[in-house]
Amino acid sequence: MSENRGKFNSRIGFILAAAGSAVGLGNIWGFPTQAAGNGGAAFVLMYLILAFCLAYPAFMAELIIGRHGQANAVESLKKISNSALQKKFAFIVGFGGILCAGLLMSFYSIVAGWMVAYTVEPITTTLGATDISTWLKSHSTSRNLLFTFIFCSLTILIISRGVSDGIEKWSKRLMPALVFLLVALTAYVLTLDGAMEGLKAYLVPDMARLFEPALIVDALGQAFFSLSLGTSVIIIYGSYVSKQENLVSLGAYVTLIDVSIAFLAGLLVIPAMYVAAANGVQIFNESGALIDGDQLVLTVLPALFDTMGSVGVFVAFAFFALMSIASLTSSISMLEAPVSYTVERFSISRKKATLLMGALIFATSSLIIFNFDLLFVFVINLTTKYGQPIIGMLCCIFVGWIWSRSSLLEELKQGNEEAENQFFWKIWPWYTKLVCPLAIAIVFINSIL
Ligand code: PHE
Repeated sequence: MSENRGKFNSRIGFILAAAGSAVGLGNIWGFPTQAAGNGGAAFVLMYLILAFCLAYPAFMAELIIGRHGQANAVESLKKISNSALQKKFAFIVGFGGILCAGLLMSFYSIVAGWMVAYTVEPITTTLGATDISTWLKSHSTSRNLLFTFIFCSLTILIISRGVSDGIEKWSKRLMPALVFLLVALTAYVLTLDGAMEGLKAYLVPDMARLFEPALIVDALGQAFFSLSLGTSVIIIYGSYVSKQENLVSLGAYVTLIDVSIAFLAGLLVIPAMYVAAANGVQIFNESGALIDGDQLVLTVLPALFDTMGSVGVFVAFAFFALMSIASLTSSISMLEAPVSYTVERFSISRKKATLLMGALIFATSSLIIFNFDLLFVFVINLTTKYGQPIIGMLCCIFVGWIWSRSSLLEELKQGNEEAENQFFWKIWPWYTKLVCPLAIAIVFINSIL
């Protein structure tokens, strides 16, 4: 079986694919609004600290489990287990992660579907098809179903082509497009009236808030979601990395790209909100806080684009295309988790497995769409508030407490002969053993209280 597994053909291919998974709605939508609501640069600073000191070590734990296992999450975790009981635990953690990835995709593709609909809308508006434009912006079941279906189909098409022909190839195409759109939009928005005020709100820190528990909880949750932790996705991607690669630097590159793009997205979204305010759009809610969540992306920003006249059509198109691309490179990683497991566990073809899992996830999305008020927020909380931190923490426990230190070092040394003498090896094992599980547990308990 292992000879038939896919693999990333190049270093840059892996970096772009893993960064593609990491960079998503969490960066462009979640990060800027969280920063705005949490003291601007104080949040950014805490996020940087937590991303590098906690999320990166946890990311490394998942990456190295996968590279060592060269198999899906369940098998990779079993490989480092020493007893029958640990193997059962491995199944629960691995399968839990896969389930979490599938459930994540079921709500993520609904939101991504909105992004695709909003990308089409400027075109229909330009063509004068007002009824269609209104429908595209409406929160109707029919619109949600159709665009979730379109988005899931795109994800299925890419994943069915495999690792190097699907994931790697498309990440290499989509990620540069994403960076280009983001930089171009940011440069444009920063020239508009009101942008500088937004820049101040984003970059001038309210240091008094730096150690607020709520800010720390939000920042770590955001870092975990953004680095795709606790979903088995990084384990799977790690399993496609060649033994010649230096994992320590690969992981650092991905974290750096993820954090930089989140930061850049803040330079776009927050100033854009203040430009909207300068153009008469309401950007604060009744309690005086910046409007965030779906209202920000689906109401405030489109209202801003409307005030920009004919340029607004292009800006709206570019902004929502950016969102759609970011979502797609993330959703392919979510679908790969259950697909790789199904292929390896049941020895069926990748095409069949992709169709099967894709259909199952779309069915779950449809269930959510038909019971939106009941299920949408519930599934988001279940996966991001509970699933990801718990499974991420358990992966750290696997590496810190179950995997033998010598075998772990041996794996790390592949592609990095010097690993044993490096700073990373001096502190990372302790981090994953004690600091990460403890910090994640504290933040998790805090967030559910
Ligand atoms: N990291 C992605 C984002 O920021 C979301 C994601 C979570 C992707 C978990 C894969 C797994 O949007």
